[in-house]
Amino acid sequence: MKKPKVLVTRQVANEAISLLKTVADVEVWVQDEPIPRELLLEKVEQADAILTMLTERIDEELLSRAKQLRIVANMAVGYDNIDLAACKKRDIWVTNTPEVLTEATADLAFALLMATGRRLTEANRFLMNGEWTSWSPSLMAGQNVYGATLGIIGMGRIGEAVARRAKGFGMRILYHNRSRKQQAEAETGAQQATLEALLRESDYVLLLTPLTAETRLLMGEQEFSWMKPTSVFINVSRGGTVDEAALYQALVKKQIWAAGLDVFQQEPVPQDHPLISLPNVVALPHIGSATEQTRGEMARLAAANIVAVLEGQRPLTAL
Ligand code: DGY
Repeated sequence: MKKPKVLVTRQVANEAISLLKTVADVEVWVQDEPIPRELLLEKVEQADAILTMLTERIDEELLSRAKQLRIVANMAVGYDNIDLAACKKRDIWVTNTPEVLTEATADLAFALLMATGRRLTEANRFLMNGEWTSWSPSLMAGQNVYGATLGIIGMGRIGEAVARRAKGFGMRILYHNRSRKQQAEAETGAQQATLEALLRESDYVLLLTPLTAETRLLMGEQEFSWMKPTSVFINVSRGGTVDEAALYQALVKKQIWAAGLDVFQQEPVPQDHPLISLPNVVALPHIGSATEQTRGEMARLAAANIVAVLEGQRPLTAL
């Protein structure tokens, strides 16, 4: 019998590829850059399954070319790159990779919070540039982390994992979420707040909400104006949740103190982007879940989802 065909749009963990090979003919785009759109459109015509990254747009145009596609297994917890309704219309499964990346992403969010509050990258540049001529009481003075108030916007699994870390730092935790999170409240002392109250009271504002029609440009001029001049804004969600021009203005006008950004509206962020020219911005290249172990687990989960569907079962993490 002819084996089904799977297209994997990046080189991922060998174990994931081996798993796929047990049930399918597997083609992997091995270059370390996104597969060109035209080629993807061509290849999807023959594919029964595709293992995709957030760099691939799965939309009407692509799906109309995919005559035998049964599953899109996205190797990310976020899935704003996929038109879910269009997949549903065609009875194509869509899966993501929740849970396996929770702790790694929470680590990165907390690391970015600390790096931004304590000016780590700026201090490192200062030293490397040979500017360190004497110790001074005000040299690279940042903001307290221990005991500060942390506001988490989007209290999903990652938010709760960050709250557990914050508890260890004696932080007061506020959160803004559609539903109440009683377990997180009991475990970490977190309190639910309106967006405005959270922004007005927090020393650190951490944005973790998925990008949806409701959260697009959630943080704009008004929201930044509610924040304190000593406060730090951290985004580990998607660039589309933030009005970047408003954030730039808030930083330049010193309405807020600093920002740590793992995500941008356009990725890779252009080198001449105004935000990354600011000394009080810590910018990272979307590495929230990037540990060797976690990326391996994400790939294995995505592959397991594909295997399940090709074997006529329900995938493990269906959307
Ligand atoms: C996700 O999983 O959505 C991250 O942004 C990519 O690792």
